Amino acid sequence: MLARPLFTGLLCGLALVSWSCQRQEEGGETGEMPAAEAMQEVALPETAGVAVWEYLEAVDYTANWELWPDKGELYEGQEPHGVLLTTYLNSAAYEAVTGMAGSMPVGAIIVKENYMPDSTLAAITIMYKVDGYDPDNNDWYWVKRLADGTIEVEGMGAGCIACHAAQRDNDFVFTGSLSAEM
Ligand code: HEC
Repeated sequence: MLARPLFTGLLCGLALVSWSCQRQEEGGETGEMPAAEAMQEVALPETAGVAVWEYLEAVDYTANWELWPDKGELYEGQEPHGVLLTTYLNSAAYEAVTGMAGSMPVGAIIVKENYMPDSTLAAITIMYKVDGYDPDNNDWYWVKRLADGTIEVEGMGAGCIACHAAQRDNDFVFTGSLSAEM
């Protein structure tokens, strides 16, 4: 009957060691974390344009997120967003698109970079679904950030909503259908 406490003690010891190792990894400014892990470490942003942008930089969306399926980079867009667009989806948004989920889940983020004809960045427009944020309009939080860093629109962007509401049946999303039927 000695074996059990000994075994438990050993287990605890191991757990402690791995816990403290983990803490060291997390705390260190020295060690680079793998991308996927780094993304999990960053909590979703508050509803403020600056917070959303800082979040996007922290997760390094251009390196770590998926492009809109079948769109690639610098594809042709329509008014008013610009002639050339690159659209990134976080994993929640990507799964909704590929899984034809019908709508985007809370936590979904769509980032669309809008470029001028000569491929210089003009602005970045963002849709971020936040639980209970704007129930009348599917809880989207809207941001427009100009290339110079100015946040031009943040919140319940009236202009954004007015136009995107044409796609209400598709969760306010234009770029592709979120359901098999559409
Ligand atoms: C006059 C209509 C119109 C207005 C106003 C508008 N959009 Fe859009 N938006 C579109 C269209 C059309 C697309 C599809 C992409 C394309 O082909 O240009 C789009 C695409 C997007 C996307 C990619 C997801 C999707 O719906 O396909 C985001 C993100 C976005 N817009 C954000 C915004 C934000 C933020 C604003 C306000 C600052 C805004 N939009 C204002 C028409 C509009």
